Amino acid sequence: MGFDSVYMKITRKELISQYLNFFKIKKHAILPNASLIPENDPTVLFTTAGMHPLVPYILGQKHPLGTRLVSIQRCIRTGDIEEVGDAFHHTFFEMLGNWSLGDYWKEEAIKMSFDFLTEVLKLPLDKLAVSCFKGDSDAFKDEESSEIWMKLGMPKERIVFLGKDDNWWGPAGKTGPCGPDTEMFYYVGTGKPKANSNPEKDDKNWCEIWNDVFVQYNKTKEGKFEHTDRMVIDTGMGVERTLTVLNGLKDDYLTEVFSPAIEEIAYLSGKRYGFNQDHTRAMRVIVDHIRASVFILNEGTVPSNVEQGYVLRRLIRRAIRFAKQINVEGKVCKRVAKIFIDYYKGDYPELTQAEKFILDEIEKEEIKFDETLEKGIKEFEKMIRERKEISGKDAFFLYQSFGFPLEIVKDLCQEHRMKVDEQEFEEELGKHQELSRQSSKGKFKSGLQDNSEATTKLHTATHILNQALREVLRSDIQQKGSNITPERLRFDFNFDRKLTKEELREVEDIVNQKIKEGLDVERKEMSVDEAIKLGAQAVFKGKYGEKVSVYMICGKDDKDLRPFSCEICAGPHVENIKTLGHFRIIKEEAVAAGVRRIKAILE
Ligand code: ALA
Repeated sequence: MGFDSVYMKITRKELISQYLNFFKIKKHAILPNASLIPENDPTVLFTTAGMHPLVPYILGQKHPLGTRLVSIQRCIRTGDIEEVGDAFHHTFFEMLGNWSLGDYWKEEAIKMSFDFLTEVLKLPLDKLAVSCFKGDSDAFKDEESSEIWMKLGMPKERIVFLGKDDNWWGPAGKTGPCGPDTEMFYYVGTGKPKANSNPEKDDKNWCEIWNDVFVQYNKTKEGKFEHTDRMVIDTGMGVERTLTVLNGLKDDYLTEVFSPAIEEIAYLSGKRYGFNQDHTRAMRVIVDHIRASVFILNEGTVPSNVEQGYVLRRLIRRAIRFAKQINVEGKVCKRVAKIFIDYYKGDYPELTQAEKFILDEIEKEEIKFDETLEKGIKEFEKMIRERKEISGKDAFFLYQSFGFPLEIVKDLCQEHRMKVDEQEFEEELGKHQELSRQSSKGKFKSGLQDNSEATTKLHTATHILNQALREVLRSDIQQKGSNITPERLRFDFNFDRKLTKEELREVEDIVNQKIKEGLDVERKEMSVDEAIKLGAQAVFKGKYGEKVSVYMICGKDDKDLRPFSCEICAGPHVENIKTLGHFRIIKEEAVAAGVRRIKAILE
């Protein structure tokens, strides 16, 4: 790789390996790239920064790999999905970061950042600038950092002091570790920066590439910033953006990460990228959203109307809407997804295993939304003609009847220079959710699409299958997803290899044996605690209401002893399982890393 101050070229892989190696030499242990769904933080849906998986250790727990850590971490930020479409905003991104857990402090951290930028990446000092925290009632002005920068050679004119909005980071969720930071900027204007140019006065020409956070505070539930005694450093460098500036570009979508996908859309639409503002925006939205969707699906999440599944649905649907806008027909999202799977599978090997699942789910969502999109847009146009505005209630109608997420309604309104009453929309949504929660006991419904006799039987069979898998494979098998149509059941569970023919046969035999024994299905109401004590399987770990219904499948004699199967569930179920008929597994496959799927029928 030849460096040259004018035509600097660096690939994503080179940037990542140079960063990891630099810190490895400085005795940092390399952390695995953690899941996109945080294990330790119920306040958010996704991992939002490299430090997110480290929160317990930042709070004081001892990390098994030591006090110096480095990682490349996949992240998702969903704050402003409708902002995506400019040159730099992304839903999914990768973040490089290094940490000191009570090890080195400001001087060493800033020196390492400086050395990496100037010695490894060879960025000229006269194109670098930094910002430090200017101080407020929570924390002092950070003169210490600015002095360290000056000692390293950073000119005073290139150091600016900014407030909490700019120079304070975190917490990652609603509460937790946070603190003042010092940010590093690279000059992206033409030629050399003027002597008095800096990221405050001339912010368009300075691009932030790295952030060193001095984690000395903890934000409480009440919104207070409590000072802590810990000396924790948390840094973050966005891979996409850094790659862009290092390659002398002004648009992330022109880097190797996005350009193959952009080229595909340009080809399919017959439109040029970077020529017409609306077309360019549409192309960016499509590739950004589909890349994020690939990674969310890789976690085994499927499109739905709740939590991560709903973010996924919003992303895929918004991408589809923009594809229509530039007249791309056919499975564009699926084609773009395939490009990203191929691009990333070297670094994320699970993508190879999950490829079919990801592409199938995206295609299904494309087909589903295609059915209502045109009708919804017609309805939207009618509303505008008749009423000249879109109320929150209208937006909710479009959501409920045509599956339009709020962002799509907002995009459509923006195109007509209008605004939607988002609060009214949220209120309507809240009312609706409350109603559906009352009528169906919400979350417990778990993948059942109707209450016909056929689905009811398959639902009961799912419970028996769940228990049979635990008996044949491992006692920690748990449901990861369930979907039942009148034709078949589909059951996802945690297991990391293909099941053998013998195991499948054994599972079928247990289910059929139980059916033959004609066990009863009993329903009891109890508190979640009582249910868990009974050993009931619970799909959702969130908060349950006071009382839940528990379905037990048991023989006449063992009703008060240990039932064969016991699950928190809203039903419905058959009364006795002898009515189920013969159970047969028709397919067993992988859906994501560590998740297998069984499809089965009753005949
Ligand atoms: N956690 C910090 C960030 O995300 C480093 O910028």
